[in-house]
Amino acid sequence: MQKIILVTGSAGFIGFHLSKLLLDEGNLVIGVDSISDYYDVKIKLSRLRILLQNKNFTEVKLDISNYKPLEEIFEQYRPEIVVHLAAQAGVRYSIENPRVYMDSNIIGTFNILELVKKYNVSHTLIASTSSVYGSNTEMPFEEIQKTETQMSFYAATKKSCEIMSHSYSHIHNLPITNFRFFTVYGPWGRPDMALFKFVKSIKENKPIDVYNNGIMKRDFTYIADLVKAISLLINCIPEIGLKKIESDSLSPIAPWRVVNIGNSNSQNLIDFISEIEKNLNCKATKNLMPMQQGDVKETYADCKLLYELTGFKPNTSIKEGIKEFCDWYSSYY
Ligand SMILES: NC(=O)c1ccc[n+]([C@@H]2O[C@H](COP(=O)([O-])OP(=O)(O)OC[C@H]3O[C@@H](n4cnc5c(N)ncnc54)[C@H](O)[C@@H]3O)[C@@H](O)[C@H]2O)c1
Repeated sequence: MQKIILVTGSAGFIGFHLSKLLLDEGNLVIGVDSISDYYDVKIKLSRLRILLQNKNFTEVKLDISNYKPLEEIFEQYRPEIVVHLAAQAGVRYSIENPRVYMDSNIIGTFNILELVKKYNVSHTLIASTSSVYGSNTEMPFEEIQKTETQMSFYAATKKSCEIMSHSYSHIHNLPITNFRFFTVYGPWGRPDMALFKFVKSIKENKPIDVYNNGIMKRDFTYIADLVKAISLLINCIPEIGLKKIESDSLSPIAPWRVVNIGNSNSQNLIDFISEIEKNLNCKATKNLMPMQQGDVKETYADCKLLYELTGFKPNTSIKEGIKEFCDWYSSYY
């Protein structure tokens, strides 16, 4: 059945792919994005041009940290579902420029929570990150693990959004799903992320910066798998639960959950780079560097909950995914 879905961050990498999938499924999509200049806006405008070819897509250029104009959008379109992806992303940039993370991630998410409450949205889905697992070393990362030691301000703001959303869900009975994404990659990907930077530098015969001397592992998630998981989770609306407390009486649990979306396969960064080299038919000159501040050595997702809820397991290999990215990069540039 056709739904009215508001997607924030629709000109971004994930928002673009998700909006496209939701439109292909026949939904009406209201895309809200400030088109921030954190990276080349040309790629955001190219993504938007593709979305605007579908008459069911409406573009709204708006900064979500401004409450009033955002409220007008909710008033006008009355979305049934909100997928909130707009954020200031990036671990390193959050050291140099923390205030923009406060404005976009904390104030922006607070505004979204106020509006999904006011307009009684039936399911709100919010992007969080594997970075909230911070310095945890028990692998794979499971949603029930404690997440108290974020290593970057970016991760701290994302963890704060999870907590804020829990309180809104609990107090106002709002169904909310938080996803923790694990290093997402693929065509139309972000120019500030490793795959894009590696391909660009190798093609231009420039050296690539490889942190922690390449001793890093990442659970790389292919974009098509990720947006499929999101579209399936839209229909998995959390319900109010009941929990037994000490006196044997029952206490309500908020209709709220956290779901990892990863590939459940932690890959060595060096193997990832070798796969790029094979595709480009060119050896990279590696600039071996120390660990970056705020970064973590390994991520690895436990995705049992995603499978239990949706019956879906992301499974695109880096071999297939890197090929898709390299083909897209060559055709776009
Ligand atoms: N890509 C990944 O590997 C990854 C991993 C973990 C979590 N995430 C999260 O997923 C979400 C989407 O990430 P992405 O990779 O598509 O990033 P992206 O930067 O490509 O997309 C984010 C979009 O949000 C917009 N935006 C930023 N601040 C805004 C504001 N104040 N108001 C309105 N729009 C604003 C930007 O213009 C951008 O188009 C983010 O919340 C990010 O933190 C991404």
